[in-house]
Amino acid sequence: MFFTFLFIIGTLILNTLSEDIVKPNIVFIVADDLGWDDVSIHGSDQIMTPNIDIMGYEGTILHQYYTDSLGTASRSALFTGKYAIRLGTHGSSIAATEDGGVPLSERLLPSYLQDAGYTTHLLGKWQLGHSRKSYLPTSRGFDTFYGFVTGSVDYYTYSHVESFNGSAFFGLDLFENTHPVDNQTGHLADIITDQAIQIIRNHDINKPLYLHVSHAAPHAGGGLVHLQTPEDTINANDHIAHSARRLYAGMVTGLDKSIGNIIAALAEREILDNTLIIFVSDNGAAPVGATQNFGSNLPLRGTKGRPWEGAIRSIAIVWHASITPQIWNGLFHVTDWLPTLVAAAGGKAPTGIDGVNQWNALTKDEDSSRKRLLLTVDDLNGWAAYRDGDFKIIIGDVDKETSVYLGNEFKELRLPVHLYESTLLSSEAAHVFKEILDLYLDLDEIFHKRDKLSLRSKHNISQEFNFCVPSRESGCLFNITADPLETTNLWPSLPDVVRRMVLRLRYYWAQINPRCLVKIDKKSDPSLRDFVWSPWLKDNEQVAKPIRDRPRFPLKVLVGELQYLIDSKFNNFSETMSAYVKSMADSFLENVSELFSF
Ligand SMILES: *[C@@H]1O[C@H](CO)[C@@H](O)[C@H](O)[C@H]1NC(C)=O
Ligand SMILES: *[C@@H]1O[C@H](CO)[C@@H](O)[C@H](O)[C@H]1NC(C)=O
Ligand SMILES: *[C@@H]1O[C@H](CO)[C@@H](O)[C@H](O)[C@H]1NC(C)=O
Ligand SMILES: *[C@@H]1O[C@H](CO)[C@@H](O)[C@H](O)[C@H]1NC(C)=O
Ligand SMILES: *[C@@H]1O[C@H](CO)[C@@H](O)[C@H](O)[C@H]1NC(C)=O
Ligand SMILES: *[C@@H]1O[C@H](CO)[C@@H](O)[C@H](O)[C@H]1NC(C)=O
Repeated sequence: MFFTFLFIIGTLILNTLSEDIVKPNIVFIVADDLGWDDVSIHGSDQIMTPNIDIMGYEGTILHQYYTDSLGTASRSALFTGKYAIRLGTHGSSIAATEDGGVPLSERLLPSYLQDAGYTTHLLGKWQLGHSRKSYLPTSRGFDTFYGFVTGSVDYYTYSHVESFNGSAFFGLDLFENTHPVDNQTGHLADIITDQAIQIIRNHDINKPLYLHVSHAAPHAGGGLVHLQTPEDTINANDHIAHSARRLYAGMVTGLDKSIGNIIAALAEREILDNTLIIFVSDNGAAPVGATQNFGSNLPLRGTKGRPWEGAIRSIAIVWHASITPQIWNGLFHVTDWLPTLVAAAGGKAPTGIDGVNQWNALTKDEDSSRKRLLLTVDDLNGWAAYRDGDFKIIIGDVDKETSVYLGNEFKELRLPVHLYESTLLSSEAAHVFKEILDLYLDLDEIFHKRDKLSLRSKHNISQEFNFCVPSRESGCLFNITADPLETTNLWPSLPDVVRRMVLRLRYYWAQINPRCLVKIDKKSDPSLRDFVWSPWLKDNEQVAKPIRDRPRFPLKVLVGELQYLIDSKFNNFSETMSAYVKSMADSFLENVSELFSF
């Protein structure tokens, strides 16, 4: 025991201090539409996620991790290290019938890891372009791909149905590299897990491994049936009163089991101790809406696809045997993964990206390398959110109905919940960590951490729904560090902060590569290609793109912004404006005055 301890300390020092770190294997696991409230590490006993929780307690929890609010936006930001607005991938995710993808001028994370000597595999969801072969994962840095290219598939038939105008296109969406797979059976979460285990078993350990496991769960199924659990998890959540929520919980249970099995496979292959395991969700759950999955983001506001914390603040865990476990409170953004992982891999990250390298910050417990970030933008609906230090600002048109606390009704129980301690102790992760890493769970420490992570225990959800919802007239400003539930609007009381942050948003808005309106391409119909969602355009085929002007900034000019330009004598702003307005005479009032909020 004592020597094992010395050995572990020795390895730890070697790993963290040596200049010549052995390249770690990277297993990056992404959940789809998993709610803040739906991992038990955040304090709720309703859905137990023991494998995820243990990885968190024994690893680093990024407690202020931000992602984008929808799948294509967050996944493209992850793989490029750039804000989605630069790629035109923000707002609505790429539709199955749409010609589009991450611009081919972009190089993705797997390519940088290939340069650093890694073998690269993608399992599960893509949704970063499939109309042309050049958009597919195997054209973009992945040595192998096994999964689906649209946003969601039926968990048992692997077909995707795209409905519009009262009609629908449907077809198979499961591929091995570029070939359709038509002989699979079983639940998709199990298939993805089995594929992951095969890759780990067959991996040549002389090369570092990058395995990106992009689970479909717990997103609503993409066929005509939306809530589909693996058979062995149907009854796992009988205590939940809401029957649809019970099925969602089964998908989360399946996801958690998958993670336990992947950890076990890494241990069996004897590479667990040098594998970096990362777990995140692409965005928050959809308690309401078109892809409703009955997940809950409580006590955070909102649903996926909106600028509220429920959509963009996600669970994020980084585990490696040599990284000291901690709750890390620094700001971390989805664009930071690319430079951070490339640094961990000893590779060379590109310059000119939005992401920052947080590898030293994470491994040496330093402060975050970032103080501010563009949170999310939707230029079709017209809103944007930005964070600077403690402050978060939201501007634009956001609907009131999805801006409140959603999903309270999912939380009712009809039977007592399982005991948290025993669920943890009987999990696969607990077993593997004990047997392989000689690591015993310290329950006191665990309960202490769980309490720190629970936002519910520190903030009450107010029942009054008269909270700030932004409009074109006025936005919302929160001290999000103190007020993660977005209850107290500071907009009226802090005009200088508002002015500074709005100007910052105008700066980003001016750089938007506008999201094209989704144009249904009839040629995408899978019935034209044996009922398979395979590419329908040649790589070099020219297609007229819908033309779109740069969208107008979704907030009227603030008096404070004008005052700032006057006070700073910006290009003699006051004199120039006054001369200009005089020259326009009455036409100023008729044409321009409506733009201003005074
Ligand atoms: C959907 O219906 C509208 C109105 O009838 C029509 O203008 C549009 O072209 C249709 N779209 C498709 C893809 O059929
Ligand atoms: C499905 O078909 C592929 C290609 O023919 C084959 O390699 C694979 O073993 C088959 N899988 C199953 C589950 O039958
Ligand atoms: C939440 O509400 C309960 C009951 O009203 C109260 O006892 C508790 O102090 C409140 N907690 C916070 C953090 O405001
Ligand atoms: C935000 O709130 C926290 C906690 O109350 C406080 O410590 C911090 O100073 C506030 N930030 C700003 C910029 O006012
Ligand atoms: C501003 O006005 C002053 C005095 O009228 C003039 O000398 C100066 O060149 C002007 N500056 C700019 C940037 O127009
Ligand atoms: C502005 O208003 C004037 C009337 O004062 C009108 O003749 C003109 O067409 C307007 N210009 C634009 C661009 O709308």
